[in-house]
Amino acid sequence: MKLEDIGFYTLSNNRVKQTCLHSPMWRTEILLTDKCNFKCPYCRGVKEELRGDMPIEKVKYVIDIWSKTGLKNIRFSGGEPTLYKGLIEVVKYAKIKGVERIAISTNGSASINLYKKLIEAGVNDISVSLDACCSTFGEKMCGGIKGMWKNVVNNIKELSKLTYVTLGMVFTEETANTVKEVIIFGDSLGVADIRIISAAQSNIMLKQLNEIPKQILSRHPILKYRVDNFTKSKNVRGLSSDDYHKCALVIDDSAIAGNYHFPCIIYLREGGKHIGEIGPDMRRERYEWFKNHNVQYDKICIKNCLDVCVAYNHMYWYYNEGAGLKERLCYDNDFCVLSKTGLIETLKNNDTLYNGVFLDFNGIKELNEKLGYDKTNDTLKDVFTSYKFRRSDIVARYFSGDEFIILAKHNIIELLDRFEKHCFSKNMNFKYKILYDIVTVQDIDKSINVR
Ligand SMILES: C[S@@+](CC[C@H](N)C(=O)[O-])C[C@H]1O[C@@H](n2cnc3c(N)ncnc32)[C@H](O)[C@@H]1O
Ligand code: SF4
Ligand code: SF4
Repeated sequence: MKLEDIGFYTLSNNRVKQTCLHSPMWRTEILLTDKCNFKCPYCRGVKEELRGDMPIEKVKYVIDIWSKTGLKNIRFSGGEPTLYKGLIEVVKYAKIKGVERIAISTNGSASINLYKKLIEAGVNDISVSLDACCSTFGEKMCGGIKGMWKNVVNNIKELSKLTYVTLGMVFTEETANTVKEVIIFGDSLGVADIRIISAAQSNIMLKQLNEIPKQILSRHPILKYRVDNFTKSKNVRGLSSDDYHKCALVIDDSAIAGNYHFPCIIYLREGGKHIGEIGPDMRRERYEWFKNHNVQYDKICIKNCLDVCVAYNHMYWYYNEGAGLKERLCYDNDFCVLSKTGLIETLKNNDTLYNGVFLDFNGIKELNEKLGYDKTNDTLKDVFTSYKFRRSDIVARYFSGDEFIILAKHNIIELLDRFEKHCFSKNMNFKYKILYDIVTVQDIDKSINVR
């Protein structure tokens, strides 16, 4: 299954291309209750004003509003949603309203019969929290309820045979050294995928991710996504200063608790301010929030935003606001000089999207005449290699005498500006002309063949 088919996952190119005030509301996550029978050490509950059970009519009202704009995915969470009396009823309601993916986040403690009834009612995605692989520690994570950890593990095994089950693993400083063990154990239960995350309050790098066996990664696309990011030094949480300053995700994704709608589930859990009250104006209010809120100034987003959300917002920038110099994602930290073939191979073998520009330096012809081809070539190479790329510049590649491609994460204009200044300082007094703004293998071929 591809990531974008799963729902992490709905965050796809196709979705982001449509995102606007009138696009479908793709996902909503509703906190049905704050009640819980566990006491996970890292869990901080919700703000006072969000406590209690959400009235069932209100849950249905939210489903009504969002399903008018084509709601495709819903997640019921909490607290522990299986303790919410109307859970089966709201699941059925979502199904009647045409919601395609109905998910619950649970601690796995309910009876297998309840889970089976939920599946019958329409649940087709169950996320179970599991942060331990031995019963002693497991019982502690389950709030000390005797025999509960075993019950959770049995439920996971049984449910994995019936529907799409993922494990949610949260690690803290205390448990960071168990990451590998817990993942191997989780994999052995037959689940479809594993989501790992560091507890928000610790936000540690999960170093053991480097050691996860390849066969396990090949079975679990979400886990692989996280591990791949980790190996590229990209943490699961947090914005870097290069990341897009707006959050398009709020336009067609939402989190609901108490009387309010929030930018996203992370924002809600971190105690951030709601966008507004539940009601017919929610969509417009979300769009306004998107337009007016700079997430680079928001402490919650800076510290907690998740890798997928960051990537999605980058994609939005690329498709909607690139202003000609469109942005694509690139996590390659190396600076290198490649041949055309090398460059094409790199792009082909890398499913990362790049943003970049082809440069045609007007002055090269004169330089060639003055210095000769080889000397010009060497000089250009020298300019490139001596130019100090910041992390945000990511990568620049040069592939022929007067044809250049610069690949970068974003802010190409600034990059070019600085590059030009650098060229001046090297007495390379030329102007560039941008030939292409989208970098794909085909573009490269075209640029070589056309001229
Ligand atoms: C709050 S729980 C609610 C649903 C259900 N009770 C459960 O545990 O899956 C939703 C998710 O948030 C995660 N979570 C709770 N506290 C967290 C924290 N401090 N940092 C990161 N994730 C956290 C849980 O592990 C779980 O995957
Ligand atoms: S089971 Fe879920 S809601 Fe309950 S304490 Fe653990 S993380 Fe929090
Ligand atoms: S945490 Fe990320 S997804 Fe949530 S509002 Fe901030 S930028 Fe958007």
